[in-house]
Amino acid sequence: MKKTFLSKFYQKTLTERVKALVSAEVISEEDAIDFNHKLQLPNEIANHMIENQIATYGVPLGLGLNFLIDNKDYVIPMATEEPSVIAAASFAAKTINHAGGFTTTVQNRTMIGQIPLKDVPNVDDAEKVILAHAEQIIERANAAHPSIVKRGGGATAIETRIIEANDTYNSPTFLVVHIHIDTLEAMGANIVNTMVEAIKPYVESLTSGTAIMGILTNYATECLVTSICRMPVHLLERSGFAGEEVRDRIIEACQFALVDPYRAVTHNKGIMNGVDAVVLASGNDTRAIEAGVHAYAARSGQYRSLTNWTKAENGDLLGELTIPLPVGTVGGSISIHPTAQFTSQVLGSPTAKELESIIASVGLAQNFSAIRALVTEGIQKGHMGLQAKSLAISAGAKGDQIDKVTEQLKQANNMNVTTAKELLSKLTD
Ligand code: MEV
Repeated sequence: MKKTFLSKFYQKTLTERVKALVSAEVISEEDAIDFNHKLQLPNEIANHMIENQIATYGVPLGLGLNFLIDNKDYVIPMATEEPSVIAAASFAAKTINHAGGFTTTVQNRTMIGQIPLKDVPNVDDAEKVILAHAEQIIERANAAHPSIVKRGGGATAIETRIIEANDTYNSPTFLVVHIHIDTLEAMGANIVNTMVEAIKPYVESLTSGTAIMGILTNYATECLVTSICRMPVHLLERSGFAGEEVRDRIIEACQFALVDPYRAVTHNKGIMNGVDAVVLASGNDTRAIEAGVHAYAARSGQYRSLTNWTKAENGDLLGELTIPLPVGTVGGSISIHPTAQFTSQVLGSPTAKELESIIASVGLAQNFSAIRALVTEGIQKGHMGLQAKSLAISAGAKGDQIDKVTEQLKQANNMNVTTAKELLSKLTD
């Protein structure tokens, strides 16, 4: 990819941006013809994806720029309706790029299926029996989905948990059997669900208990990815703020989000602005990721910041984000949605592990950008321009009118849709 063609991307018109993508060798000349239309989900496909389909719902797709992840440059498609998310991610990525970029580790990529059993006559004995039959359970699970085994994946391990009866919820004691499954490039919900349902009767017969269900858990604690970055303080200087001061304020903001759940939720929402945008653009399941990530944020018993910003021995600012990210590169809507296919093409057909690294790095960039703005000039200054643009469009501005109304709105005392409408009607008088 020739990156230089992507400089000043935001200043280009839509047509120029598509041309720049061709020049940067991100897409071919042929892809560029009727580009927007080609990325739309056709009704014929949409109709097979859900029930009672009547139309498709559009969300803007933009590019996160300047990302250097594990020594590789990326242009990252992001689908989001929120102004300033992509600008913030690209801006943060530029600073982090100057400091050597993001370094990631994918700790594991194993999905977990659960079978909770009730009415087990002796849970301690039953637990031992399950563990003694782990190999047989794994064999039966793999026999239920031979194609994943043929490709090199499949069930790998069995774990058990005992959850004592709880009077508050009037719940019985549960013996929970977890089966760990390597789903390779797939997120794997279908693979996991097929396997757990297949082994349910066997697990019941081994324990003399009753399985109340068999299902994948979205709390994917065996599918964690970590992205880290390290920035020397001179890169953190802002007008009116020394680099050291910005660093210390970022660390303090993070400490606050580690101890206060009210702040942690907003702090993590900012991270998910970036994470969800790439998860959605890549055709993955945003709800699965959201549910797992927030549970992970509460793993200590209190909901906390997902990132950690600290000071290195030499004074650099260190950032780290670890989240469960069970995304796939095949299956579900990924192989049929034209935008998801385009996203994969732009990212260089990443593996699921690489996609995890990309998404976690976008999340870390997003958090850096948000808290850097919050502890220095405030968030509204940066948001102002984009907010003004949304208001201008809401007021009915079209074509050139959008920029004209936006500029005047930024100078106005009241930045709201009424003012935008007044400015627009003056323009069209
Ligand atoms: C807004 O969508 C996200 C922020 O509120 C995140 C944060 O406060 O860290 C700016």
